[in-house]
Amino acid sequence: MDLLIKGGTVITASESYIADVAVSDGKIAAIGKDLNMPAERVVNAVGMLVLPGALDVHTHMAMPFGGTVSADSYLSGTRAAVCGGVTTIFDYPVQHKGETILGLINSKKEVLEKEACCDYAFHCCITDLNEGAILEEMQQAVEDGITSFKCFMVYKKEGMMVDDGLLATLLLRAKELGAMINVHAENPDLIDLRTAQYLKDGKTSAWYHYMSRPEFVEAEADKRVVHWSTHLDTPVYIVHMADKEGLEACIKAKEEGHELYVETCPQYLEFTCDVYKREDGRNFVCSPPMKGQESLDALWTALSAGFIDTVATDHCPFQSYEKDWGKDDFSKIPNGCAGVENLYPYMLDAANAGKLSFEKVVEVCAANPARIFGCQNKGAIAIGKDADIVLYDREKDFTISVNTMHSDYDHTIWEGKKLHGYPVQTYLRGQLVYDKGDFVGTPGTGAYVKRTPKS
Ligand code: URP
Ligand code: ZN
Ligand code: ZN
Repeated sequence: MDLLIKGGTVITASESYIADVAVSDGKIAAIGKDLNMPAERVVNAVGMLVLPGALDVHTHMAMPFGGTVSADSYLSGTRAAVCGGVTTIFDYPVQHKGETILGLINSKKEVLEKEACCDYAFHCCITDLNEGAILEEMQQAVEDGITSFKCFMVYKKEGMMVDDGLLATLLLRAKELGAMINVHAENPDLIDLRTAQYLKDGKTSAWYHYMSRPEFVEAEADKRVVHWSTHLDTPVYIVHMADKEGLEACIKAKEEGHELYVETCPQYLEFTCDVYKREDGRNFVCSPPMKGQESLDALWTALSAGFIDTVATDHCPFQSYEKDWGKDDFSKIPNGCAGVENLYPYMLDAANAGKLSFEKVVEVCAANPARIFGCQNKGAIAIGKDADIVLYDREKDFTISVNTMHSDYDHTIWEGKKLHGYPVQTYLRGQLVYDKGDFVGTPGTGAYVKRTPKS
């Protein structure tokens, strides 16, 4: 064996038990009590939790956006990922009008082959059909393992928005191919109308970012997606759910048996829109914005009740000087916040505090993302799976600070957040890549995850 992890508590999505875990050739080879096999490296995990590496199925590394490029490169973003127990990211390359999606994905793969510190997959954002050619190309993309595509219902002036006709076309085409459409749901016209009015009235602070796109603006679009997908009988995955009314529409559709998946993010579980009243409110500007306490509470309730399928980060950091562009005009603040290194520690801290179970955290951060997005070898501590393993110390206290994160940005919305319990080691396919605070991996060792479409 290459690695033997002794005596830890293995957590799966459905149970936890004390066992040894043996790793050979990057795969989990055996799990059992008192495994007696020679191994190159033996790790004493008594008292530790042994978790599958998390899949952060929503990141934007090095993404041109908001007049700049998001602050984490693929190298720094994936380095930060493993230091927080994320062993696979799903990035969102955005197609520019006229561009082919395979060309886009291949250009990203070239960079990641050199830079990736964790494994990676892509959801490709489609903005333009190229006179129908993209519908053909989607088939090749699915064959190449890109089994999900994204539609933005917003970002009209950025040229990223899809209209209802294109959304419906893509929902239907994806279904034909056994693929999924992921949707960013907010109403662009309401946002534009309200933004223009606030700016005209001299209401320019970060608070008006929230006011220009409050609960009902997101809920309208959530309901529209639910309407389209249920009536067209197509699966759909709604990203970064942040509002109660939209969530309720999703829950209803789920209860009626429709194939609809809901993702939320730690920022919507932790912060309310009150952050936009702070002096540094612009640093919290992301879309959709954080909402009121009622929405935050509804997200936690839905999470515990099993109506939220995944928790991912929407990692899209910008530097302070870029956020400052919007000091006197909220519409100039690049949208997005950091989170890839904080996802698993944040959710596990909630489990440690008894807010939800460790099994639930494994379910929404590892098992469900792997299942929903067709990663056969990921998301579980089970024989035959990739040995993506996190050792977690339930007693380690940790205070999040930008100074100890492994990204390239200069501030974080998570600054000062106290966690009880923290990952101490991360293994990527059996290789130690994070050890007690330090990145110990090698850029370029992350591998592309070729996914399987639904049959
Ligand atoms: O504010 C955000 N979320 N920025 C990244 C792009 C997106 O909408 O997911
Ligand atoms: Zn989005
Ligand atoms: Zn996003």
